[in-house]
Amino acid sequence: MSPPPDSGARRSDHTPASRGLHVAHQVAARPDQPGLFLALAPMDGVTDASYRDVLTSQFSGHSGVSLCVSEFVRVVDRPVQSKVLLRHCPELSGDGCTASGVPVFVQLLGGDAEPMAQSAALAAGLGARGIDLNFGCPAKTVNRHDGGATLLKTPDRVESVTRAVRDVVPAAIPVTVKIRVGWDSAAPVMDLARASEQGGATWLTIHGRTRAQLYRPPVDWEAIGRAAACVRMPVVANGDLFSPEALHRCSEVSGCQSFMIGRGAMGRPDLFAATRGWRTEPLGSPEIARLLLDYVAHMRGRQMPSFNALGRLKQWLRMGALQREDLAAWFERYKRERELVEVTAAIAAHCRVHATREPATYLGNARAH
Ligand SMILES: Cc1cc2nc3c(=O)[nH]c(=O)nc-3n(C[C@H](O)[C@H](O)[C@H](O)COP(=O)(O)O)c2cc1C
Repeated sequence: MSPPPDSGARRSDHTPASRGLHVAHQVAARPDQPGLFLALAPMDGVTDASYRDVLTSQFSGHSGVSLCVSEFVRVVDRPVQSKVLLRHCPELSGDGCTASGVPVFVQLLGGDAEPMAQSAALAAGLGARGIDLNFGCPAKTVNRHDGGATLLKTPDRVESVTRAVRDVVPAAIPVTVKIRVGWDSAAPVMDLARASEQGGATWLTIHGRTRAQLYRPPVDWEAIGRAAACVRMPVVANGDLFSPEALHRCSEVSGCQSFMIGRGAMGRPDLFAATRGWRTEPLGSPEIARLLLDYVAHMRGRQMPSFNALGRLKQWLRMGALQREDLAAWFERYKRERELVEVTAAIAAHCRVHATREPATYLGNARAH
């Protein structure tokens, strides 16, 4: 896998020529086109619009992220309302992209073809850049209500829900599918891939674990490779991609050139750019602290209550703690803290020691509400 130097999304500007170039970069980075495709995985409770904005704005918009996917929008027995879609994907009120020009797909989760299709049509009408279908969520409450990974038991239902959605979404808008390798074994992964393709999926993302595994090791990149080998559509490999080296190994094992990164982005927000060879130095503590404060400021700017913003901040710290000592230390120190401002003040104090930009605005934001 050799990262092309010019692939990946970049900050858009407004001249038609550079906009054209920008679009070309994005097309080049799509998994149905040549080039390295690096998507941010949807992670409920973490990768909201604020996180997406902060992540993709890094390095003046040269974050290396090709695509974001919204946290899942649950569809039960009736189509979701526009306001729910807009809440999960506020980018829809603009051009469906983050401020840095990275497209955001709307992810829907449900097992009932009709309301899924109606919800997808609504999202497409609101300007969604793509619709992603979640057939991998392992949460018990979701699975009990016939959603997420439950559908892995019945590939024909994966096919029928995908087809119902594909039929109502304009052809120019990708409909993509995200699965795990199976419910309790990887045996059905090829059937699931074929079902997704027959249903009309533009591409398929596979998390290399079964539902029964939850997040336990080992990740099964070989199973992803078996699935990729039996379909014509691109397959995006997902699971345990925590470093550029892991992406290379995954590419060797699975044969994939397209990747989705989830938890790895929490400890290494620079992972996308680093994989492309755009960054060689890992982010220092002040830089990651700055991102955390930007995240909080963005959430508070969207009127998120401070308690919820604190929960999301802690979630980032908790997940990043697996990869970074500074995040681990901050998580240990602040995991029981109930006041957002206490945590942001402490992180800002850290920034003030090392960083050049005055963090008071973040404190101001946090205290203002
Ligand atoms: C906290 C959390 C929330 C998640 N929420 C979603 C979700 O909303 N939709 C989805 O398709 N997958 C979700 N996932 C799964 C991830 O998208 C991804 O498939 C998984 O974490 C494996 O990739 P990773 O090893 O790079 O993290 C979630 C994972 C985590 C840890």
